[in-house]
Amino acid sequence: MCGIVGYIGKRDATPILLEGLRRLEYRGYDSAGIALQSDGKFQVRKKKGKIDEGLARLLASNAIQGCAGIGHTRWATHGPPSDENSHPHLDQSGRIAVVHNGVIENFERLKERMIRDGHKFVSATDTEVLAHLIGEHYMKVKGQKGDRHPLTQAVMNALREVIGTYGIAVLSVDYPGVMVGARRGSPLLVGVGEGEHFLASDASAVVAHTRQVAYLNDYDVATIEAGRFDVTSLGSDTAKVQISQLEFGAEAAEKGDFAHYMLKEIFEQPRTVRNALRGRMDLEEGMPKFGGLNMTTAELREVDQIVIPACGTSWHAALIGEYLFEEFAHIPTEVEYASEFRYRNSPLEKHTLVLVITQSGETADTLAGLRESRRRGHKVLAICNVVGSTIAREADGGIYLHAGPEIGVASTKAFTSQVSVLTLFALMMGRIRMLSNSRGMHVMRALENAGDQIEKVLEQNDAIRKIAMKYAASEDFFFLGRQYNFPVALEGALKLKEISYIHAEGYPAAEMKHGPIAMIDEKTPSVFVIPSDGMYEKSFSNLEEIKARKGPVIAIATEGNARIRDRVDDVIYIPAAPEPISPLLSVIPLQLLAYHIAVARGCDVDKPRNLAKSVTVE
Ligand code: AGP
Ligand code: GLU
Repeated sequence: MCGIVGYIGKRDATPILLEGLRRLEYRGYDSAGIALQSDGKFQVRKKKGKIDEGLARLLASNAIQGCAGIGHTRWATHGPPSDENSHPHLDQSGRIAVVHNGVIENFERLKERMIRDGHKFVSATDTEVLAHLIGEHYMKVKGQKGDRHPLTQAVMNALREVIGTYGIAVLSVDYPGVMVGARRGSPLLVGVGEGEHFLASDASAVVAHTRQVAYLNDYDVATIEAGRFDVTSLGSDTAKVQISQLEFGAEAAEKGDFAHYMLKEIFEQPRTVRNALRGRMDLEEGMPKFGGLNMTTAELREVDQIVIPACGTSWHAALIGEYLFEEFAHIPTEVEYASEFRYRNSPLEKHTLVLVITQSGETADTLAGLRESRRRGHKVLAICNVVGSTIAREADGGIYLHAGPEIGVASTKAFTSQVSVLTLFALMMGRIRMLSNSRGMHVMRALENAGDQIEKVLEQNDAIRKIAMKYAASEDFFFLGRQYNFPVALEGALKLKEISYIHAEGYPAAEMKHGPIAMIDEKTPSVFVIPSDGMYEKSFSNLEEIKARKGPVIAIATEGNARIRDRVDDVIYIPAAPEPISPLLSVIPLQLLAYHIAVARGCDVDKPRNLAKSVTVE
């Protein structure tokens, strides 16, 4: 949560920071602010609310200029969204400015001590306490000649007293042209330009200016000037810094002609699914291949249990993975909420493979699950979208999604890419065990076709919008499916909840009769995912049970199933596909339904209330 951006160079920092913050706004939008260094003092502008309604207006009427500055877009953890709680925060002397992403867990103790020492605080945030702490240390080392820049030294000394997580950018008015960044648990990178440098929570904030970035590691502290930067570590004597080339350009993070990022990302799925599969299928051998697993076939064959910790939509993809690993490879698979897994004493067998799934590669709970598993000596593979993210770097190996930046807070294209990659990986685990070449070929051919089939589903966008309008005023929804389409039902319900704030529940269709069916009445629609597969007749009985109680039903059915039209209120057809592939198709109408309902209700689709894109706090 929270987006951080910093600039130091020769250009006017305000438009660069503002644009960077707009690109990071998906990470949090409770408030936004910037601080610029100029003529021996700070100029700070900060405002509650989204950037365009708050900070941008403030800057339009009250402009500031300077060639070095830091900016922040907030997802509040300590103190409600307000102008006072917005970042940047200053220290007691007003000579240090800080933006922060994360949580300072011991802030209360530090704050009490500082209040006793005469400090005055103006906000309820933990971040202001950190700013004061850096300020205290700064007063002690300022003007001293040492190996390190005094600002760097002050930041390092302060961070040694801190418990918690942080990605920070720090400026001092006494040293124009120097900015310090540090991280522990929250992402931070240095953007390397010509005669200018940047700090940012993620690459989308700098890609318009440079494609060269250095990802910082936990405990790194970077000292940045216009023409150079260096990195030192709080944890060890040397810090390893590597400059990487970004794969995507600024246009990949733009909306184009679409009204929202979410809609753009839904429509990208034919391409992103193809990208996830590209170069990874040997059709003749019916055998998937991956470049980055870093495990030998013998090691993969030894795996006798798979545990998948993940959160949210990635957790839903993991549930589909469970069906896939068990069907294709007969490997017992457990899917865990990463937030529970990290604190549980799950008995993992010697040859358990831990597979984490994450779009952002920064989710705190998932990262903690990865670290705990590695500490216990398990190999951890990651299925991840963001190249260079913390999880991608800390895993023993893994598979990238190559889906490009996902900006909409509601995940869409990452889900279908995760499912595509999981299908291939499960197939590979099967093929090195007992699965036949012909079964491998069969599934791969179906996967190859999925991009075209998703295009066909997307062609029904207008019809789906009309259905959405019909149900947009409902206050409760059920999403039902069985087997591979049970996780799809959960995902459909999550999409609707996240962006339209309608209460929605996903269930295995047959579970309804054990309780939830009591909720069904003529005002409670059910979205029934019911493709013509092995479960069709059973699912159809469950559907009849809903209809018998006057519940409206929107069916997601297979093309050619004319019979269902007479039994339900609305149908959206998807092309025929083998069962394991059907989630790639059935989830698309659910994404579009949620999108159009949210638009009809006037909700902010890309920035839903209370949420942020990457959840880097516990
Ligand atoms: C999905 O729409 C979400 N906003 C959220 O549940 C997300 O999937 C979850 O926070 C996990 O994120 P990750 O994939 O980046 O780890
Ligand atoms: N803890 C800080 C605040 O509440 C930063 C929040 C975050 O990174 O999400 O302002």
